[in-house]
Amino acid sequence: MDQSRRHFVKTATTAAAASLILPSSAFASLTFPAAKRRYAIVGTGERSVGMWARPLVQNYTDVLDVVGMCDINAKRVAVARKLSGANCPTFTDFDQMCDQTKPDLLMVTTVDGFHSHYIARALDRGIDVITEKPMVVDEKQCKEVLDAERRNKRNIVVTFNYRYAPKHQKIKEILMSGTIGKVISVDFSWYLDVYHGADYFRRWHRLKSKGGSLWVHKATHHFDLINWWLDADPVEVSAQGALRTYGRNGTFRSTHCRACPHTKDCRFFYDLTKNATRMELYAGCEDVDGYHRDGCVFREDVDIYDTMSAVVKYSNGAHMSYSLNAFMPFEGYRLAFNCEKGRLEIRDYERQPWPIEEETEVYLTKSFGQREKIPIEKITGGHAGGDQRIRDLIFRNTEMPSYLRLPSSRAGALSCLTGIAARRSIEQSRPIKISELAKVPAPTNT
Ligand SMILES: NC(=O)c1ccc[n+]([C@@H]2O[C@H](COP(=O)([O-])OP(=O)(O)OC[C@H]3O[C@@H](n4cnc5c(N)ncnc54)[C@H](O)[C@@H]3O)[C@@H](O)[C@H]2O)c1
Repeated sequence: MDQSRRHFVKTATTAAAASLILPSSAFASLTFPAAKRRYAIVGTGERSVGMWARPLVQNYTDVLDVVGMCDINAKRVAVARKLSGANCPTFTDFDQMCDQTKPDLLMVTTVDGFHSHYIARALDRGIDVITEKPMVVDEKQCKEVLDAERRNKRNIVVTFNYRYAPKHQKIKEILMSGTIGKVISVDFSWYLDVYHGADYFRRWHRLKSKGGSLWVHKATHHFDLINWWLDADPVEVSAQGALRTYGRNGTFRSTHCRACPHTKDCRFFYDLTKNATRMELYAGCEDVDGYHRDGCVFREDVDIYDTMSAVVKYSNGAHMSYSLNAFMPFEGYRLAFNCEKGRLEIRDYERQPWPIEEETEVYLTKSFGQREKIPIEKITGGHAGGDQRIRDLIFRNTEMPSYLRLPSSRAGALSCLTGIAARRSIEQSRPIKISELAKVPAPTNT
């Protein structure tokens, strides 16, 4: 192994790789070589440009060079390069990019269903991987990724940016402090509104094969937060789900909003032409792959759910009642931890048609005691400040408490497996044990 290009400190894994066994390490950790990292990106849509390529080119060139960008759409990757300001070659062939640019770190920001392919290919080439969530969309992909990680003794970081929002850190700290005792149960309701929620039905997310359904694409964030807050693993999932607003529920449809004769009657009409960046990155490139950024939310091929609920049991005995609805009049979440000695309640307001005083309200009530309002530090930036903090942690190794170390493939797998189990539970009308999908050794916290 070429130590000079070995950027990840490999944490110990137990177990042979015959069946799907998750790595035991709870964290992925990074080392910082004297030389600059050579950083390549595959999948160059909005997230790739806005979260990774552009900020890296603007703020991190002292520690890394963006050496290559790759996408199946030749036009989009060229636009992405221009929008990010990167001075690197572009590719439509991943292997060609790796051969020519010799990256030592890959960022995977493709459509979700292709993450596992690129993660495994990069690891097999000796390249360490940072992947956007969700790490995988089904249990077969999960096995492929974890096997490749083990086989190559390389490392994967999953960018669970939500953990790094100060409000989520505060919840972790309160629960860790033990002030209200052990968590007995959790109530968690996530609301996606008629703008953001609908957006998942315009694009590839509407297909289970591409995004694993919102149980995986979206809920992987929420399930990861819960696993991390509880410091426990999911054990069993019972779920229900239905499609009640989008897809076949529409009384008319088209391919996409710009071609639609029903725009005046459609509550979900989205005028892409008002967004110059999206027009350039998507509409200007759609002749290559037919990807309409303003796809019709009522297409009949939608095969995911827009209303979902589940009960999840955890290894520490806690259980969670969870729901996700994607057609709400407001955006945000409501969360409560019902604990031995009190209750911690959070109401998060992301977007709503009424004025609010604070984006996040957190209350701690001790049993037989008083209710206390917990102040939350507010920082600006994407995902309540989480995006900037995780970038700094990955690329500048900023000081972080141990419980905020980088999420590993284990976290990526367990959060996806919860959603995959929920999907299976609906399909098979029975509770699904995570152990039916994967064997999970205890974490070592190394
Ligand atoms: N962590 C977060 O909060 C967050 C937020 C948004 C998106 N994301 C994730 O980022 C990723 C990208 O999301 P996006 O909104 O930019 O999507 P997008 O559709 O805008 O971009 C995806 C890109 O992948 C390309 N692509 C598709 N199939 C490919 C393949 N086989 N090989 C190479 N490229 C391929 C597409 O051409 C497109 O350019 C997704 O995995 C998504 O889940 C994460």
